Amino acid sequence: MQICGTDHSVLTWSGDALALGFFENAVELTEDLQQLDHRLEGTLQELITEAEFKGKADQKAITRVGSRGPVRKLILVGLGKIEAFGRDTLAMAAASIARLAKQEKVKTLGINLPQVEHQASETAAAISEGLILALHQDHRFKSEKEEKELKLTTIDLLGLGEQTAAITRSEQVCSGVILARELVAAPANAVTPITFAEVATELAQTYGLELTILEQADCEALGMGSFLGVAKASELPPKFIHLTYRPANPIKKVAIVGKSLTFDSGGLNIKGAGSGIETMKMDMGGGGATLGAAKAIAQLKPPVEVHFICAATENMISGKAMHPGDILTASNGKTIEVNNTDAEGRLTLADALVFAEKLGVDAIVDLATLTGACIVALGDDIAGLWGTDDGLTEQLLKAAKSVGEKFWPMPLEDKYFEGLKSNIADMKNTGPRSGGSITAALFLKQFVEKTPWVHLDVAGPVWTEKTAGVNNAGATGFPVRTLVQWVLQQAQ
Ligand code: BES
Ligand code: MN
Ligand code: ZN
Repeated sequence: MQICGTDHSVLTWSGDALALGFFENAVELTEDLQQLDHRLEGTLQELITEAEFKGKADQKAITRVGSRGPVRKLILVGLGKIEAFGRDTLAMAAASIARLAKQEKVKTLGINLPQVEHQASETAAAISEGLILALHQDHRFKSEKEEKELKLTTIDLLGLGEQTAAITRSEQVCSGVILARELVAAPANAVTPITFAEVATELAQTYGLELTILEQADCEALGMGSFLGVAKASELPPKFIHLTYRPANPIKKVAIVGKSLTFDSGGLNIKGAGSGIETMKMDMGGGGATLGAAKAIAQLKPPVEVHFICAATENMISGKAMHPGDILTASNGKTIEVNNTDAEGRLTLADALVFAEKLGVDAIVDLATLTGACIVALGDDIAGLWGTDDGLTEQLLKAAKSVGEKFWPMPLEDKYFEGLKSNIADMKNTGPRSGGSITAALFLKQFVEKTPWVHLDVAGPVWTEKTAGVNNAGATGFPVRTLVQWVLQQAQ
């Protein structure tokens, strides 16, 4: 499938299907569209009228046109209110168009959408992103390996001129989102700490990234008792992955740290029936997005040094498992009473954050499928965001908004740390039920001394049950696009 920007307009383009976008309550035919309608013997206006097409966000209409005209099918998509128009609107519209075109077995598709901020390149990039992400299919685990053949071969973005560079950039970003989706969707018998580390190794080889994998003994030498406490019960060795993208003369250095539990059984505080234990293959969603971001950034090559850190392991049960009540010592010397072995993500992140800070970076962002409480607070589509630095928090919110991923700022309410007080150790790993995502964030904060830090709880949005927007049902690849956009922003 080839996406191309072109100078062709709705009047000069010909092919299987032509897709047109309209704003809400502004479904009027411009001069060009009037002429097109004339050529199509009035079919465009008829479709608008008969479908009662008003241009509402996500509204769609499609019709077959007579075979003698320049196009065989007309697709209309609603863009919603013009006031809300942005990059995200374009990606969503492109996703709708892609799904319709696929369903209709369209081979050549022309897309005519308005430009965002008169920027043809950003417009082309946003549309490409929507197309690629909506058309991504995962057939790896079907016995029928052949993908149900996608007929779509050529997609022309009308009126944008040549846009090879912008479209290539989009393809690079999407390759990272798709890697994250595929890691998250893969079950725990396919993505293990070992295979997860192999993916990092392959990225390093393909894109020339630096890679260090700390084995269990290396982690022991660094005093990572918190991470290793979680790893104890697994038959599989833990892998502490440190992947680095290091450009010449970087203008900034940042670290991205992703929770990488390839499976979370809960440990001896085992997840019961009805707890969603069978979905816990997605507990490496943070790490999957971290490797996805690495894949994209390594191709985009911004002048920013980026460290990608994943402390990968499983949370299992066995005679070797850590017991509820065990006391662990993290690599910064702090002691933790494990009052719940199912609050394991924060234990692995503790040592990963200490490691990240020792690198002397300007900012640390961690992302984790950390708490069910965050889903209770914000629902499935919105991630929680906690930060120690207003500037960094703003940067991430801005990046997220521009790519259409949703975050909501949450409080680092120091007083709630009381809930983590332990009589015997420096802290417990679990507080009371109320404010569970906040105490989780406060726990992590104990492992970052002074570097500006943001914590993203992505437990909800890494997975979706329904196909909507650019996401297909299953793993979403959230928040790779935000991370990439944030890193690119550092260079501006
Ligand atoms: N991986 C889970 C959080 C989670 C829950 C992610 C649902 C995605 C969907 C995490 O390790 C966990 O088990 N958290 C516990 C914390 C509790 C024991 C304090 C939770 O949220 O119940
Ligand atoms: Mn857990
Ligand atoms: Zn977990």
